[in-house]
Amino acid sequence: MNWRIFDYLSRPRAFVAMAVFLLLVGLAAVLPEDLLAQDGTQETAENAVSGDAMRGEKVFRKCKACHTVEKDGRSRIGPNLWGIVDNAAGAVEGFKYSKALIERAEAGLVWDVESLDAYLRKPREFLKGGKMTFGGLRKEQDRLDVITYMREEGAKE
Ligand code: HEC
Repeated sequence: MNWRIFDYLSRPRAFVAMAVFLLLVGLAAVLPEDLLAQDGTQETAENAVSGDAMRGEKVFRKCKACHTVEKDGRSRIGPNLWGIVDNAAGAVEGFKYSKALIERAEAGLVWDVESLDAYLRKPREFLKGGKMTFGGLRKEQDRLDVITYMREEGAKE
């Protein structure tokens, strides 16, 4: 055993250097997890409050070919989506929904964050036989943002 290491560590500067080194090692072990936690992909649907309505408005451009979101907006290829978040599916009057969606609506489907997240991820998988011909939003953050945007628009009269 080389005792000189203890002599070395008993010097104040060496001690501080050692302490800084250990701190950095500790940080390196903790940081990647922190960074991951900030990345939207690690978040669950319940965290939708962390969605960004401004970003969501941009994401919604993909939906605009078929949907309006303002109050009393017209239905296009898809139904008007005003107030859709936390409300019953299949409820827009005069829109001709698919049989698949009507059945799910009758079974009590509500478009909450969780079901919207699943539907928007893969519309055809969530609703087999549904007629929303949209590929889906692959990124979870995009889904959370667009849901937050629709929630905010739905709160406007
Ligand atoms: C190509 C046209 C098209 C695009 C693009 C599209 N949708 Fe749809 N959407 C539809 C149709 C058609 C329906 C009706 C589905 C059915 O009856 O099975 C629908 C239904 C819905 C419903 C259920 C409405 C209700 O009243 O129950 C939601 C929610 C929805 N779409 C959200 C979105 C969002 C958000 C986007 C963009 C990310 C989007 N859609 C993109 C055509 C589209």
